[in-house]
Amino acid sequence: MAGIDTSVWFRREIGPRLTLSAREILLQWSGLDEKELLPHLDAIRAQAWPLGEYPCIGLWMFLLPGLAAFPQFAQILAHAKRGDGIVLDLGCGLGQDLRLLAVHGVPTTQMWALDVEERLWELGYDLFRDRGRMAAAFIQADFLQLAPTTLPAAKLNVVIAAQFLHLFSWEKQLEAVKKIVDLSSPGTMLVGYQQGRQRAREYLRPWGMMFYHNRESFLRLWDLVQQETRTNWTIEIQEVRLQEWGMQDQDLEWMPEDRMGINFVLIRDL
Ligand SMILES: C[S@@+](CC[C@H](N)C(=O)[O-])C[C@H]1O[C@@H](n2cnc3c(N)ncnc32)[C@H](O)[C@@H]1O
Repeated sequence: MAGIDTSVWFRREIGPRLTLSAREILLQWSGLDEKELLPHLDAIRAQAWPLGEYPCIGLWMFLLPGLAAFPQFAQILAHAKRGDGIVLDLGCGLGQDLRLLAVHGVPTTQMWALDVEERLWELGYDLFRDRGRMAAAFIQADFLQLAPTTLPAAKLNVVIAAQFLHLFSWEKQLEAVKKIVDLSSPGTMLVGYQQGRQRAREYLRPWGMMFYHNRESFLRLWDLVQQETRTNWTIEIQEVRLQEWGMQDQDLEWMPEDRMGINFVLIRDL
C-alpha cells in the first residue's frame, strides 16, 4: 500500500534474534547441522518476506520462542495432548508453533494449520525439513470467510492465534473471535500473543486496518463475545515488554513509545 514503508520492519541478519530454544528446536526437529543453519534460515526467510511483508517475518519474529516462553507452557502442552483432540493453528504462517508442540510430543496427526497463504505453510516444510513427517492437515482459507461447518467435526483441544487476531479491525476481531468460539467446546484453550499498545487503537497497515489492544480492550472484546455467544471463558492476559518475547531494542524503533505485547491463555468453561 502506498505510503507504508515496510523496510523498517526488515532486518537482514538474524543475529541474536535466534534464541537458544529456537535453535534447539530447529536443529532437533529438522536434522540440520550447525553449519547449515544460518544460510538455510536466510534462504527461507528471503522467500517468505515477499508473501505479505509482515514484521513477524522481516524481524525474524517467527523464530522467537513464542509459546515456549509462556509460564503456562506446561499447561498448554498438557492440554494439547488430551485424548485425540485437535490443535488448530490460526494464521499459522510457516507453522513454527506446531513444530514446537511436536518436539514436545504432541502428535502431528492431531494438528490442523490454517492460513490464507498456502506458500508460507509450504515454506515451513522446507524450513523444518519435515515434509512426510509433519502430518498436520493444512486448510487454505481466509478465516473471516470460513464457515465453521466446512471443517471436519472434531474436538479442539487448543487453538493457537499467534500474531494473528491483531491483524484485523475491532469489528473483524469480534467476528474472528466469535468464529473461534463456534469451533470450540467446553475445555478448549485459546492461546496466543500479539503486539499491543498501552493506549489501544487502530492502525492502517498494508494488509488492512488493525486494532492494537491493551489488556483492558482485549477484555472488553471478550466481554462482548461471551455475552453474544453465551459462553464463559477463564481469561489470563499479560501485558509484556516486547524484549520479553526476545525482540531486540533496534527492532522496536519504528514503534511508538507505548508499544508492548499481550500474551493470552483462555479456557472455555461453559
Ligand atoms: C503476522 S503472521 C503470523 C504467522 C505465525 N502465526 C507466527 O506467529 O509467526 C500472520 C499470518 O496470518 C495469515 N493471515 C492473514 N490474514 C488471514 C486470514 N484472513 N485468514 C487466515 N490467515 C490469515 C498470514 O498469511 C500470515 O501467515
